[in-house]
Amino acid sequence: PDLITVQELANRMAARAGEVVKALFRMGVMATITQSIDADTAELVATEFGHRVRRVSESDVEQGLEGEVDTEENLEPRPPVVTIMGHVDHGKTSLLDALRKTDVAGREAGGITQHIGAYMIQIPSGDRVTFIDTPGHEAFTAMRARGASVTDMVVLVVAADDGVMPQTIEAIKHAQAANVPMIVAVNKIDKPGVNLDRVRNELLQHEVVVESLGGDTQEIQVSALKGTNLDKLLEAIILQAEVLDLKANPNRAAEGTVIESKLDKGRGPVATVLVQKGTLNQGDIVVAGAEWGRVRAIIDDMGIPLTGAEPSEPVEILGLTGVPSAGETFVAVEDETRAREITEFRQRKAREKVAAAAGAARGTLNDMLA
Ligand code: GTP
Ligand code: MG
Repeated sequence: PDLITVQELANRMAARAGEVVKALFRMGVMATITQSIDADTAELVATEFGHRVRRVSESDVEQGLEGEVDTEENLEPRPPVVTIMGHVDHGKTSLLDALRKTDVAGREAGGITQHIGAYMIQIPSGDRVTFIDTPGHEAFTAMRARGASVTDMVVLVVAADDGVMPQTIEAIKHAQAANVPMIVAVNKIDKPGVNLDRVRNELLQHEVVVESLGGDTQEIQVSALKGTNLDKLLEAIILQAEVLDLKANPNRAAEGTVIESKLDKGRGPVATVLVQKGTLNQGDIVVAGAEWGRVRAIIDDMGIPLTGAEPSEPVEILGLTGVPSAGETFVAVEDETRAREITEFRQRKAREKVAAAAGAARGTLNDMLA
């Protein structure tokens, strides 16, 4: 069987080996960092850390789920997806709120405008940008890791008066591990006595070299509170997006990632999804993680109902039979039969994994007692 050492798994996730050992312990598996664990257990751990696992050999049922391969002619430019990361209270949400006010699309809020963790704005040049917020507390490490896997770039928010803090470092590690470019937004520059050189040197210690120190990481000084330099930050994002030359094929079955989900009293399961390929249409049959459903409604971040959503658009979808987990992928499939087949397979796999992990725990305990 496929085996991986705890240390190697930790390396691949850019996580501390000790944290992986702890996660295994919580699952009832005793292992030291030099020991090997099987692929199913490794996948469970990786999922818990917020990573998506792609095995080399998948079952027949999963085959074809990736859909057709896009050729260069099929690809069209798409807006960048930007994740805002940084330490608790450094101003991520304030910055997102301030950026949202710069939206020139002129959309009036529709029905229920609620805070969803992702939205798209149009800037005066006509370019559009999608932003994703990530919670700042340590418990949400997994969510942040997922943020980095759907994102084209990270805006690292560092409060000028506080500097680089533990979750700033974590965010840097995630971005580096995911090989995603970073833009530094030094926030709260309205505060008296801030020392920008200190922040730059602290970043340097983590291999983030800003342009003023001769590196290639753009650094923008902002104040979310006063709305200072938001235009410069948006320019930096567009510049970075041009370098990345982001494209997707909008003319195919939709694929994307679940960003958030919840069970709404009136509306049933609601998932905020990011479309990454193709166009999601009302009436599509989708599989999201181990759930499926017919898309009854597509709602944008202003609460406005849409008939379809294209690559890089974050939308809420209604009509799923259950609540998928954040970080899971969704895909539009041809019919209900196929959707049931895939979800039943996935649910069975999930049950088997839990049983296998429990079995492994018993084995290890027996070994220890022997
Ligand atoms: P978490 O989501 O809890 O991680 O926090 P956050 O990073 O989203 O920070 P948030 O936007 O909630 O801001 C934290 C505090 O900093 C709030 O009291 C804000 O008013 C304040 N704040 C945010 N931006 C600025 C700024 O540019 N200047 C000043 N002076 N205060 C700011
Ligand atoms: Mg916040």
